Amino acid sequence: MRAKAKAVASDIEQAARVLRAGGLVALPTETVYGLGANAEDPAAVARIFQVKGRPPSHPLIVHIAAADQLDDWVEEVPQAARLLAERFWPGPLTLVLRRGRRVPLEATGGLETVAVRVPDHPVALALLSAFGGGVTAPSANRFGSVSPTTADHVRAELGDGVDFVLEGGSCPVGVESTIVDVTGETPSILRPGGVTREDLEALLGHPVAVPSASGVRVPGQHPSHYAPRARVVLVEPDEILAEAELAQEAGHQVGVFLPPHLADAAVKARAVVAVPGSLSSYARGLYGFLRELDQQGCDLIVASLPAEEGLGLAIANRLRRAAGPRSSA
Ligand code: TXA
Ligand code: MG
Repeated sequence: MRAKAKAVASDIEQAARVLRAGGLVALPTETVYGLGANAEDPAAVARIFQVKGRPPSHPLIVHIAAADQLDDWVEEVPQAARLLAERFWPGPLTLVLRRGRRVPLEATGGLETVAVRVPDHPVALALLSAFGGGVTAPSANRFGSVSPTTADHVRAELGDGVDFVLEGGSCPVGVESTIVDVTGETPSILRPGGVTREDLEALLGHPVAVPSASGVRVPGQHPSHYAPRARVVLVEPDEILAEAELAQEAGHQVGVFLPPHLADAAVKARAVVAVPGSLSSYARGLYGFLRELDQQGCDLIVASLPAEEGLGLAIANRLRRAAGPRSSA
C-alpha cells in the first residue's frame, strides 16, 4: 500500500495534545517509526512497555528537538559528545550520557545513564517543537519483532495500542540510529546504525570499538530481535541457491534474499527479494523485505550478510539478530 499524505499542522497539534494528556503517539523518524510518550510522565512511559510487550528493564531513547537542549536532559556533556552532536544532529545518532534528574528511571530501565537523540525528520521535529519537551520513543513494534518503516506497519502491529499515528511516509534511512556510549574514556558503539563507524572515526580521529557479533550486549539487545515470523538462515552468498532449493524440497516455504550478483539466477523458492546493490537502498528496504516475505507465507528466509563496512555493519547486525536463537514460546 502506498504511504498516505504526510501529517499536516493540525495533526501535529493534536499529537502534541495527546502527549500532554499522557497518551502515546507513533511518529515517523528518518530511521524507523517510534512509539512516543512524554519522557517526564512515568505513567505514559510505563504504557509504552505495556503496549510493546517489552520488559521494563529495557532503556528507551529520549528524543529532543535540538542539540542545544541536550544539557537539560543529562548530567554532563563530555567534549566528544558535544562534537558528535554538532556534526550528526539532527540525524541517526543516539548518545548515551549520564542521566539528568529530569529523566525518570522508568525511561532508562533503572540505569543512571540516558540515551538521547535529535531525529532528522520534519514531522518528528515539528512534533518535538510543538510539544516542547522530550519524547521517549522505542521503535513502534511489538517487542522482538521487525521495526516499522511506514505508518501502515505501525497500525498493523500495534493497532489500538496507539492513541495517534502521525503520517510521515517511508523512513529514508530504514535501520535504527547508531548508539554511541560517551560515558567512558573513549566513545564506543553499542548498536551500529544509520551513522557509520567510518563517519564517527573520521570525526573523532581515532578507532571506535563496536560490539563483536557474539560479545557483550547492552540492556534491551537480546539475541533474537528485529525478527520476522519466518526463521532466518544465514549462509555464504554462493550457498544461497543450493540452501533455498534444499529447504524448499524439504517442505519449507522459502523466501530468498537474492544478492545483486545472482539477480538473473533461477531460484527454487516461494518468494524472492532482490537485494539492492547500494547499501543505503538495502538498509531502507530491509525491514519491508522481511515483512513482505512473512506476508507471502514464507516460513524460512535464506540470506547472506553484506560486507560489514559503512551501512553494511548495521544491516549485518540486524540480519544476525533476526537469525538469532528464539525462545520456544
Ligand atoms: O532509530 C532509533 O534509534 C529508533 C527511533 C524511533 O528513534 N529508536 C529505537 O529505539 O531504536 P529502541 O527502543 O527500539 O532501541 C533503543 C535501544 C535499546 O534497545 C537499548 O539497547 C539502547 O537503545 N539504550 C537506550 N538507553 C540506553 C542506555 N542508557 N544505555 C545503553 N543502551 C541504551
Ligand atoms: Mg527496537
